[in-house]
Amino acid sequence: MSSLPDQRILLKYLVASPLFFFIGTVHGVIQILPPVRAWLDSIGSPYGGPGHMIDPLAHAHINVVGGVVLLCMAVTYYLFQAISGKPVYSQRMVNHSFWWTVVGITGFYSTLLYFGIREGQYLLLDNSLAADQLHAYYGPIIATVSTIMGVGFWVFFTNVFLTAKAVFSQQHDP
Ligand code: HEM
Repeated sequence: MSSLPDQRILLKYLVASPLFFFIGTVHGVIQILPPVRAWLDSIGSPYGGPGHMIDPLAHAHINVVGGVVLLCMAVTYYLFQAISGKPVYSQRMVNHSFWWTVVGITGFYSTLLYFGIREGQYLLLDNSLAADQLHAYYGPIIATVSTIMGVGFWVFFTNVFLTAKAVFSQQHDP
């Protein structure tokens, strides 16, 4: 019986990544449908304004962070243990890097979609006052969810670097 920790802790990564890819691909198809494309272009996409929040920001991040980065995290954790034969530094950090990243990207995506759609509607109604009043909330909210997402990345980097330090130091004085 191996003394190494069970790798099933990584299964949630392998569920979350395709789930975020699914949302990102549906988003990708919807944003290219002619009426939606025309609406996004009319509110500034991809260059700026509320349209930019929806395409490319929300679309890019749900795919690259939710899809690609979560998968990269799981593969890195799995390969470190499989190749070195040593456990990852902290299983708690494996869970923390997952949940902070998932909550962060869900918040980041929802915030970009909500403010992009609402401010876009105000823009087309020529109600810049309402758009500005709403946008006053955007800064603090996007900064908060970005930080939560960032914590997920930084816990992952820390866990990998501490694992590498343990693995390489053991290689030098087995
Ligand atoms: C904590 C993680 C991250 C945060 C908080 C974040 C935040 C942002 C923000 C605020 C912008 C918009 C800048 C602007 O107003 O134009 C941006 C742009 C972008 N980000 Fe991220 N990002 C993160 C991670 C990533 C990662 C891991 C990737 C790719 C692997 C990525 C790819 C991009 C791309 C491609 C753009 C440019 C989109 C465009 O305007 O064409 N981001 N990001």
